[in-house]
Amino acid sequence: MVAELLATPPCAEIHLHIEGTLEPELIFELAARNGIDLPYADLEDLRARYRFTDLQSFLDLYYSNMDVLRTEADFADMTRAYLRRAATAGVRHVEMMMDPQAHLIRGIPLETSVRGVCAVLERSEEEFGISTGLIAAFLRDRPAAEALEVLEELLAMGAPIIAIGLDSAEVGNPPSWFVELYRRAREAGLRTVAHAGEEGPPTYIVEALDLLLVDRIDHGITCLDDPALVERLVRDKIPLTICPLSNVRLQAVESLAQHPLPQMLDHGLNISVNSDDPAYFGGYVDDNFRTVQEVFGLSRAQLARLGEDSIEASFASAGRRAELL
Ligand code: ADE
Ligand code: ZN
Repeated sequence: MVAELLATPPCAEIHLHIEGTLEPELIFELAARNGIDLPYADLEDLRARYRFTDLQSFLDLYYSNMDVLRTEADFADMTRAYLRRAATAGVRHVEMMMDPQAHLIRGIPLETSVRGVCAVLERSEEEFGISTGLIAAFLRDRPAAEALEVLEELLAMGAPIIAIGLDSAEVGNPPSWFVELYRRAREAGLRTVAHAGEEGPPTYIVEALDLLLVDRIDHGITCLDDPALVERLVRDKIPLTICPLSNVRLQAVESLAQHPLPQMLDHGLNISVNSDDPAYFGGYVDDNFRTVQEVFGLSRAQLARLGEDSIEASFASAGRRAELL
């Protein structure tokens, strides 16, 4: 008998890069609108490049495709398209990362990227039934001083961010370089997250906890190489935002069957299921839930727990979290 496929539980998506939701069709539409010559013959040619060998091979395409984002309307259209799709996926709350620094260094003012995204986020609850929070992510493969400057500019312009994050190429760019950035963010009343242990060693997760004092770890799958760290993450209830399809596409794990999600559940870790960069990795949050269900045959109770853990791990107000649970 084929096992019944259970619906995606009500959940919060808390590991999502808005620039990673830029679908190939929208890339072509925005390129045409902005008079940009793309280095791809057509959609098929672009899609053929979505085969990645590691994080860097993906980042090269991800940053290159961002070039089509030029105006507030471009950022708004991308954000609206994501929210429309997320609503059908069962997402009730999203905390999305954006990479303002990546746009700034290619000549797009912070006001343009931030205002474009925020104009849509402001209306999201009303339009899509999804509450939102914005996380400014900083690029760990750029100088820490530049990140700090950009954070100061975001604070000075009153950008409505709830948290900061750390993303881009992980190996060789440790959390320890960003202590001052995170200290300043906390001083400004922001929450903190950081990618750690996606491709990098468990020591990066320890650094993110001990030196950056993060509230959540993005990915964190390599924690399983360090049993004492797993014990600590369980004891301190540190949420890990897991992105199964992303880990497979970037070859952080060999196959879905080898993904450590079931062991993480068994250890009692707080984990959530997220899409990371859904336009690049073959699916949105519902596709991630469906895939892990198919591969691991998760029970109704395990699925409900993943949904609940995502809401508990979010930075939504206590009232909103209670509403969502
Ligand atoms: N930027 C966008 N997606 C990312 C990922 N999965 N890891 C690190 N940086 C990213
Ligand atoms: Zn990510």
